[in-house]
Amino acid sequence: MSRTVFLIDDDRDLRKAMQQTLELAGFAVSSFSNATEALAVLDPDFDGVVISDIRMPGMDGLAFFAKISSLDPDLPVILVTGHGDIPMAVQAIQDGAYDFIAKPFAADRLVQSARRADEKRQLVMENRRLRRAAEAASDNLPLIGQTPAMERLRQTLKHIADTDVDVLVAGETGSGKEVVATLLHQWSRRRTGNFVALNCGALPETVIESELFGHEAGAFTGALKRRVGRIEHASGGTLFLDEIEAMPPATQVKMLRVLEAREITPLGTNTVRPVDIRVVAAAKIDLGDPAERGDFREDLYYRLNVVTISIPPLRERRNDIPLLFSHFLKRAAGRFGRDVPAISAAVRDHLMSHPWPGNVRELSHFAERMALGVAEIPVRKPAVPTNGGTLPERLERYEADILRQALTVNNGDVKETLQALGIPRKTFYDKLQRHGINRADYVGKSNTAKKEGE
Ligand SMILES: Nc1ncnc2c1ncn2[C@@H]1O[C@H](COP(=O)(O)OP(=O)(O)OP(=O)(O)O)[C@@H](O)[C@H]1O
Ligand SMILES: [Mg+2]
Repeated sequence: MSRTVFLIDDDRDLRKAMQQTLELAGFAVSSFSNATEALAVLDPDFDGVVISDIRMPGMDGLAFFAKISSLDPDLPVILVTGHGDIPMAVQAIQDGAYDFIAKPFAADRLVQSARRADEKRQLVMENRRLRRAAEAASDNLPLIGQTPAMERLRQTLKHIADTDVDVLVAGETGSGKEVVATLLHQWSRRRTGNFVALNCGALPETVIESELFGHEAGAFTGALKRRVGRIEHASGGTLFLDEIEAMPPATQVKMLRVLEAREITPLGTNTVRPVDIRVVAAAKIDLGDPAERGDFREDLYYRLNVVTISIPPLRERRNDIPLLFSHFLKRAAGRFGRDVPAISAAVRDHLMSHPWPGNVRELSHFAERMALGVAEIPVRKPAVPTNGGTLPERLERYEADILRQALTVNNGDVKETLQALGIPRKTFYDKLQRHGINRADYVGKSNTAKKEGE
């Protein structure tokens, strides 16, 4: 542990004596004859203690203390005072100075104060380190994405994570509903409890209730032992109801009761047990739309829908694709012990044009196939640039279009076309040849069109 003291006193002899005392007590001391010099090297992450005389030419100890407080109010400052300055020193203590020592003082008094101040400082610094580490960890999200939609999503999650409000997460398959549910758990104080995920679509109707509510031994045939249900298991933590739209109607009724009363009645008992849960439900469909909802209970929907978080499909946040892809590609290459392959223009093209119906999951599987070198990229038609190309190329295309238009309008009649374009005959034929346009193709065309249109 570093035990640093910045010592400021204009009295050279006293400064030397104090420095010696502190060094004997194990401190590393930097001493200064004036406050300005010390201030120049102090920063908010200064790891030690400041001991300063009050009466000094230039910036006095009180002004110095005020500057330090604005730099870092938790930095301990010990003021050394002459006998006339006690009232000032008391005021400084009220303003947050750590201690004051009246001259003359015993060496021990100085050392004790410095030690206690140092301990306090170390605690503050340790707390800051922990807090920063926690922030860094939470910034290192599994929820990748920098598009405005994802930034907003992350902000919302941060705001509601530590509330107990129930949340409905809506999004297409593979869009990150489970990631969101996990983050809601991890960013809440419930993180010390269980995160219990239950896929309502995957459980046979016959077991879903004993899964959810638990049962007593003998509650039904085959129920040999008492079983704690998933809801109770999630008490103190988070219950994640995945594919809630697939929950059987009978269970929906019971679930509604749980959400309202926050208690369960295990099968085969009459006793109710309170549960302290936060429910996060995920749906692939829009439960708010009666047409999509089907036999999903409207009252359960409204009960769940305290807050709905909608995750946009990947195709609506394409700018996140390169970031996600390079993350998945690196991860996959690491897992398979391969080098990270270079991303060709064709791959980039595919990434940005594919509709990604399987969303982030599909993208991550594609990255895995890329890392293994077995990815197939659909071959696209040889690029016929319509808007792209260099300026001369685009002018060429433009010119050819104008020629064709003029020929069409004038039925391939040379004289009229020449007139319309205002160019010499030779130039006209040269251009037709260069662009591979056959005048004869246009003869009679527009007449037919006109006749049909009449
Ligand atoms: N924003 C993201 N950043 C990083 N990884 C993500 C992100 N969104 C999703 N993933 C990853 O994509 C995969 C699919 O995500 P998740 O399982 O959360 O989707 P889902 O919406 O629950 O899908 P389903 O509806 O099919 O259950 C997971 O491997 C997850 O880690
Ligand atoms: Mg899921």
